[in-house]
Amino acid sequence: MTTLPEGFTILAIETSCDETAAAVVRGGRTILSNVVASQMDMHSRYGGVVPEVASRQHIISLVPVVREALAALPGGWADIHAVAATHGPGLSGALLTGLNAAKAIAWQRGLPFVGVNHLESHIYASWLDVDDGVTKQPGDKVTDLTPSPRHPLTPSPPHLVTPSPPHLVTPSPPEFPLVALVVSGGHTLLALLRGHGDYTILGQTRDDAVGEAFDKVARILGLGYPGGPAIQQVAQSAQPPVGVLPRAWLRDSYDFSFSGLKTAVLHKVQERQDRQDRLPKVDVKAKAGRPVLGSQPPPVPSPPPPLDAAWVAQMAYAFQESVVDVLSTKTVDAARQHGATAIILAGGVAANTRLRSELSRRAAVPVRFPPIALCTDNAAMVAAAAFYRFAAGAQSGWDLDVTPNLKLGMS
Ligand code: KG4
Ligand code: ZN
Repeated sequence: MTTLPEGFTILAIETSCDETAAAVVRGGRTILSNVVASQMDMHSRYGGVVPEVASRQHIISLVPVVREALAALPGGWADIHAVAATHGPGLSGALLTGLNAAKAIAWQRGLPFVGVNHLESHIYASWLDVDDGVTKQPGDKVTDLTPSPRHPLTPSPPHLVTPSPPHLVTPSPPEFPLVALVVSGGHTLLALLRGHGDYTILGQTRDDAVGEAFDKVARILGLGYPGGPAIQQVAQSAQPPVGVLPRAWLRDSYDFSFSGLKTAVLHKVQERQDRQDRLPKVDVKAKAGRPVLGSQPPPVPSPPPPLDAAWVAQMAYAFQESVVDVLSTKTVDAARQHGATAIILAGGVAANTRLRSELSRRAAVPVRFPPIALCTDNAAMVAAAAFYRFAAGAQSGWDLDVTPNLKLGMS
């Protein structure tokens, strides 16, 4: 591991799914700019991400997003020392847009370039030095996460080392060994980190990713997309008594399974709709006299009756409790078994407040999670991961391709 100057400033691009993001990060930790253009509205009408739509939208958004990220630097391009982009895992067409843009920028400006693993970057969001006050601007598609007030925007001139005063860097970076729980729309895994880039997978999902389960259950309950925030919100209004849904413990393993839980919710919904269907209904026509045979159109199957909001809230609550119980139990056990100094909670589902609080309550070591805006896809985390890759002497060639099913620990 070489020591990079603390002023080493990276421009990173992230386009693995449905967020077009660019960020500039100094010293692997200090966010100078972080711009995210979300495509959520576009995909929500289809109930999920449409890959072709995502790629096209990345192409439209990339240039303005990169421009906005650079606008935060007084020296503009001259302040950038290196370029990074996500090259997998993710949607291949979406990944291609950001990766090719980053390679073109690096080549044209003669800067070093590195490809970053998306799962690794979610973990490195916990290395970023940010205030909890970092928030999304409501109703704004493009979100600028302004740097912490403790880090005023005074980027150093290129190649000049300006160590930050130690009291400004809080909290300190995580120390190894660490256990990371990565929970996103596409992945669910527990990993042991013994050093930068040194990963051992302890367990992973055998079927659905946990974010995917949130999204599918939300759809079954008629709560829309994305499902995670919708379920979390509705669960808050659940009134007792609430039934318990199954937990797939997969004993003696750190693996996970969520498809059985999803099916259990589906069966509960079907049972309830069947029961509502069997309720006696007043037959208005029967009262008016028997219809003449053959004069009526054939019966059309009626749509399932709507679920009542109170019952949906209880189901959302029970689902979330089941997920949080299994994730917390296994993560706490893994941290204890491997003597972790801390637990890192990463990925879009790390935004779940119930998971954050329950994991923190049960763990014997500190649980670190980024502010909510850095849990979901962003490019600041890509820059943070890239900093440690450059420090390890890594650099990618111009032939680096996208790897849609890239695993953690692979680069
Ligand atoms: O990491 P991410 O932004 O994209 C992927 O790399 O997949 O994760 C997106 C996932 C979605 O499935 C979304 O429903 C879930 O994160 N999510 C949540 C919450 N916020 C986002 N799940 C549970 N609770 C939340 N508050
Ligand atoms: Zn992600």
